[in-house]
Amino acid sequence: MKTVPVNLGTRSYTIHIGEGLLGKIGKLLQFSGYGKTVLLVSNFQVFQLYGDIVQSSLESCGFEVVPGIIETGEEHKNLATAEKLYDLAYTAELDRRCAILALGGGVVGDVAGFVAATYLRGVPFIQLPTTLLAQVDSSVGGKVAVNHPRGKNIIGAFYQPRLVLADTSVLQTLPPREIRSGMAEVIKYGLIRDLPFLEWLEQNLDNVLARRPDALVFAIARSCKNKAEVVSADEKEKGERALLNLGHTFGHAIEAGMGYGAWLHGEAVAAGTMMAAELSRRMGWLGEGDIERIEALFRRAGLPTVGPALEPAKYLDLMQHDKKVQNGKMNLVLLEQIGRAVSTNAALMSDVTNAIACRT
Ligand code: NAD
Ligand code: GLY
Repeated sequence: MKTVPVNLGTRSYTIHIGEGLLGKIGKLLQFSGYGKTVLLVSNFQVFQLYGDIVQSSLESCGFEVVPGIIETGEEHKNLATAEKLYDLAYTAELDRRCAILALGGGVVGDVAGFVAATYLRGVPFIQLPTTLLAQVDSSVGGKVAVNHPRGKNIIGAFYQPRLVLADTSVLQTLPPREIRSGMAEVIKYGLIRDLPFLEWLEQNLDNVLARRPDALVFAIARSCKNKAEVVSADEKEKGERALLNLGHTFGHAIEAGMGYGAWLHGEAVAAGTMMAAELSRRMGWLGEGDIERIEALFRRAGLPTVGPALEPAKYLDLMQHDKKVQNGKMNLVLLEQIGRAVSTNAALMSDVTNAIACRT
């Protein structure tokens, strides 16, 4: 097992990464001082696979588990789902000491975290991420949110979990498309700030995709270390944390433009990253060889390297509604070089349009 600290003063916590960890959750929480009732949020699919392990582990350590099962899919990451969970928590008489646990991917984690942040003005929150994307990204750093019909993650908070337990053995049941989607965020860390990790991925990608336990643990721990360092330095995204959004402004336009759920988050981020890389080339920062190198890695990971053929004007319209637009200027994360990202609003809109057109 590997552990990665997230250093945030009194709100610091540990990410545990390794095989077969879910069954240890009861023991880990036994002396936490949390209330005896816990709300275990999951979806049908994940609860059927892993609900028993978590529930028995908690029950054997004296907790009473209230399952909060939500519908599967991005289209259910909304206030209606949150409201059902508030009802469950209230009916089960959860008080402020009682924890909410998220067992699932990023959708479960984001909604459960949003409910934990707001129910009774905040109750302890535990992340048990079960997708690659959730283990390397969404469970770490405290961004919790639900979508508004007109925009992704519009309603949310920064609310740190008390503990993240990433059991890598659960990734064996994840559909291949979901593993590929998670790889987009793994590759992102290499591109924005960790060139040695990018080189490791170029050597070891096949082992990660084949879900070899040692390769998974290494890739997840290294991704979490990168994310933890960024979050510890800039929890509320005043500066450096924005770099984690490489490809995301373009990617969110793809997700919204195609209808949530049609493109997986990581797929949209991969195509969006290629648009950001193309724009970085037009800024004079990346060369043709760099573009080919990034594209080759995404292709090997089975990820799209062009976006859907929406009109560039449609992309721009959707991007302008993204929360990373400030004072009418488009803040974008671009690459000064492979392994070093920068947040800038210096790109000409004509170059942004051409970069999109070049990658659709
Ligand atoms: P997801 O939560 O929709 O899960 C993907 C699918 O995998 C679902 O059908 C789920 O039921 C299934 N699944 C989950 N674990 C499984 C397992 N172990 N075995 C078999 N099936 C399993 O998708 P995701 O990619 O995990 O998360 C995407 C969401 O995360 C998006 O809403 C995105 O906005 C959000 N996100 C949040 C952050 C953040 O910082 N909070 C960062 C990145 C992404
Ligand atoms: N996924 C981007 C962030 O957590 O800031």
